[in-house]
Amino acid sequence: MKGIILSGGTATRLFPLTATTSKQLLPVYDRQMIFYPLNTLIKAGIRDILIIVAPEHSGQYLNLLGSIFKNHGVNIYFEVQKTPRGLADAFIMGENFINKDNVAMILGDNIFEDDLNESISNFSKGGMVFAKEVPDPERFGVVDFDESGKALTIEEKPKNPKSNYAVTGLYVYDNRVVEIAKNLKPSVRGEIEITDINNEYLKLGELIVNKINGVWLDAGTHDALLEASNIVKEKGISQNFHPIINEAIEEFDLRLKNLAKATLEAHNLILRK
Ligand code: TTP
Repeated sequence: MKGIILSGGTATRLFPLTATTSKQLLPVYDRQMIFYPLNTLIKAGIRDILIIVAPEHSGQYLNLLGSIFKNHGVNIYFEVQKTPRGLADAFIMGENFINKDNVAMILGDNIFEDDLNESISNFSKGGMVFAKEVPDPERFGVVDFDESGKALTIEEKPKNPKSNYAVTGLYVYDNRVVEIAKNLKPSVRGEIEITDINNEYLKLGELIVNKINGVWLDAGTHDALLEASNIVKEKGISQNFHPIINEAIEEFDLRLKNLAKATLEAHNLILRK
């Protein structure tokens, strides 16, 4: 299974914070936002991860993640998305990277409390998404179920949602997703929509929809960003990262501190602990 983190976009709802950096590099409590989706993929056993970024932030991503995992068995690759064409673009941009494998794609601003490794490791064919009950389903792709829990329809941002279940920003597909994405037509808002991919798999009878119980956060607005930091702190989500991430961050920290120490010592100053 390959992993993709979609971490581009324009993040207009977070202006002016995102005038100087990428949304997914902003802090959520004590870690940059991108570490949360990275953690979800790494916990699921995925070790080859493509990060799709916007051109103006590619240098910042390289500084943070370019070599942080090189001694930890995780391979990070980057692609630059010139314009935000839609979530389904991840599979077109990632075609060579995905090659003949299955793929899990996660949005760079999505934070999951649950470990979803069991469902992801057991995946073999078709598509799989994760649904969460929310108070404002009209903002999301909305899935409704029959009495046996089988998904019936998925509608993108419906005015009259048929259920309160939002499709969250983690999507697992078999290799057919690349061809499906390449054949999509842009929607009225001009984007190639992941909901259209999900509907293709639904039509084939091959879409699994798993309901999740834990916290799901999409840190795309100022209020959501603040709430995400508070919930992450309260639930200890960043304390519960996979050891690979903790060790890589510790090493990175130490490298930065040694650099700062050397710079200060050159001026006869002492680093504060
Ligand atoms: P959105 O939150 O829908 O878009 P955005 O991040 O550009 O924010 P805003 O609506 O405030 O302008 O995107 C969800 C995630 O997907 C986010 O992490 C950015 C990413 N994304 C891309 O990387 N490329 C794309 O083409 C799109 C549409 C989104």
